[in-house]
Amino acid sequence: MSITAAESRPLILGFPDSQALTQDVAQATGLPHACVEVRRFPDGESYVRLPETLPAHVILVRSLADANNRLLELLFAAKTARANGVKRLSLIAPYLCYMRQDSLFRRGEAMSQRIVGELLAEHVDDLLSIDPHLHRTPVLSDAMPVKNTVTLTATGLIGEFLSRELPAAPIIIGPDAESEQWACQVAAAENLTYAVAKKVRYGDRDVRVELPALDVQDRIIVIIDDICSSGETLAQAAQQLTGRGAQHIHAAVTHALMDDAAMQVLADAGIASVWSTNTNTHATNAIGVAPVISQAIEQHLR
Ligand code: R5P
Repeated sequence: MSITAAESRPLILGFPDSQALTQDVAQATGLPHACVEVRRFPDGESYVRLPETLPAHVILVRSLADANNRLLELLFAAKTARANGVKRLSLIAPYLCYMRQDSLFRRGEAMSQRIVGELLAEHVDDLLSIDPHLHRTPVLSDAMPVKNTVTLTATGLIGEFLSRELPAAPIIIGPDAESEQWACQVAAAENLTYAVAKKVRYGDRDVRVELPALDVQDRIIVIIDDICSSGETLAQAAQQLTGRGAQHIHAAVTHALMDDAAMQVLADAGIASVWSTNTNTHATNAIGVAPVISQAIEQHLR
């Protein structure tokens, strides 16, 4: 799409990995959209090119999974946009990376959440994200000192999806304390019962989940979490639910980050279906987040 400098509406600017979502958002908002050109040189370095003409307000849309590559390309895009006259630069990062290291546990560690937050704050005026992993830093603006931060949630969409998809009302399980915020909202959206387990993490792929006292015999269960990565959290919860006689166990997450090995872990644990939103493009995507993003653009960026 060609943009003229006189264009007064914001341009939604996606990346090759966020093109489908960008198009959905552009369609819902009626805003123009374009795609950043990204390719790799033979040595793996990134080539980034923006449209030749940009309006004063650009809204970048990029999920920050695969963060070590995508953050640098985002930085190239942001600096280039500014160099080409963009006055207001908004970032919609449906999945926001580096949220786990929000504290220092051992001397010498990098507090990556803060460092990434400061980096983004240098380059963008607005940061919108969906179900960011807010744990010990409970407010997004504390984690990411960007001028305008907006936390969105996909829990309403997940709740609506479950009520369409399942033949009977499920019990919602949050596998750890942090997941209560999402499990509770999904349950509230559809008037469902929910309970939250306790989780202790011993390593990146070593977690123990302890379910609360709850009768799940012959019930449909949906485990709700923000992120699935190694799959161990969902798998541990599922194994225990199977042991208690649950009829079918499904899982729904906002951000699907699992590879094939993790998908196998989920299947081996007896999880019948895994559904995710399209904050990150993944084979399990079943729930589109464009409505949440479009509404937020109207509300916070216009
Ligand atoms: C952490 O507390 C998150 O909410 C998720 O539970 C976690 O990221 C899932 O990771 P994994 O799939 O590796 O267990």
